[in-house]
Amino acid sequence: MSRLLNKVAFITGAAGGIGLAAAKLFLQEGASVIMADRDADLLEDARASMEELTSAEGSFNIVKTDVTSQQEIEQTVAHIQRKFNRIDIAVLNAGIPGANMPLEDYPVELFDQVMAVNMRGVWLGMRAVIPLMKQQQGGSIIMTSSIQGLSALPGTTAYTTSKHALVGMMKGAALELAEFGIRVNAIHPGYVETPMMEAIHHAVVPDAPEKFQASIASSVPMGRYAKADEIARLMLFLASDESSYSTGSSFLADGGILAALPTF
Ligand SMILES: NC(=O)c1ccc[n+]([C@@H]2O[C@H](COP(=O)([O-])OP(=O)(O)OC[C@H]3O[C@@H](n4cnc5c(N)ncnc54)[C@H](O)[C@@H]3O)[C@@H](O)[C@H]2O)c1
Repeated sequence: MSRLLNKVAFITGAAGGIGLAAAKLFLQEGASVIMADRDADLLEDARASMEELTSAEGSFNIVKTDVTSQQEIEQTVAHIQRKFNRIDIAVLNAGIPGANMPLEDYPVELFDQVMAVNMRGVWLGMRAVIPLMKQQQGGSIIMTSSIQGLSALPGTTAYTTSKHALVGMMKGAALELAEFGIRVNAIHPGYVETPMMEAIHHAVVPDAPEKFQASIASSVPMGRYAKADEIARLMLFLASDESSYSTGSSFLADGGILAALPTF
């Protein structure tokens, strides 16, 4: 239970499903965790659930941060620098789904918003942590992409575009930062039980969200959604020294979805 002992971890979207699961796991593994999210109420709820982890070896702080704001991200990273003078792990995880609608009807403002959070927000986060990671000659940057960073679904082109963009960003950054001992990788979750998916179920089939979830789950080779903790465990591997030779790579946790061809 000390795979991240003495490491400092910065997590964005840390008050949501996957981000909070990662924060809890990293805390239990001994890290000092800085939890950034734009939603102050959710952050307070997250604080309460982190405080319940009495057996945890690490420590945590919450910092309200909107990843679309260069100023807020840089202020948060400066705060971490003053407090710890290092960042070993950056989990750039904040994301929004956008809407599900035909491309020609998709509001341009919403497209821009999805890009600002899912793509530009990750780039800004990475840009902000690099100087400190270079100074300490090491670090692990983990981006939360999606199976939609490798394949597409109709009606969600903005989200798909933003998550594909992370693959290129991750590869370019990995090459640029390898000589400094900084590793950069992307994870690609399938369907995960989180508030984001719950909101999607309600938005797409308001009358029968559970039925909709069950029909999606039945299309997954493993027959179920992931728990957020199962995604956090992949993040833990990439955050820890156990992945010391992995950089510039995509890591899937999708219950077999992308392995499948249509059946007939
Ligand atoms: N849930 C899934 O099935 C699934 C699958 C693949 C990928 N993902 C990705 O995983 C990541 C986490 O998703 P989740 O399912 O935990 O969603 P979630 O909605 O539970 O959590 C996302 C968190 O990000 C925060 N956030 C949104 N915009 C932000 C901003 N501008 N600045 C700071 N924080 C912001 C939200 O407040 C929320 O707490 C996202 O990038 C998502 O695209 C999720």
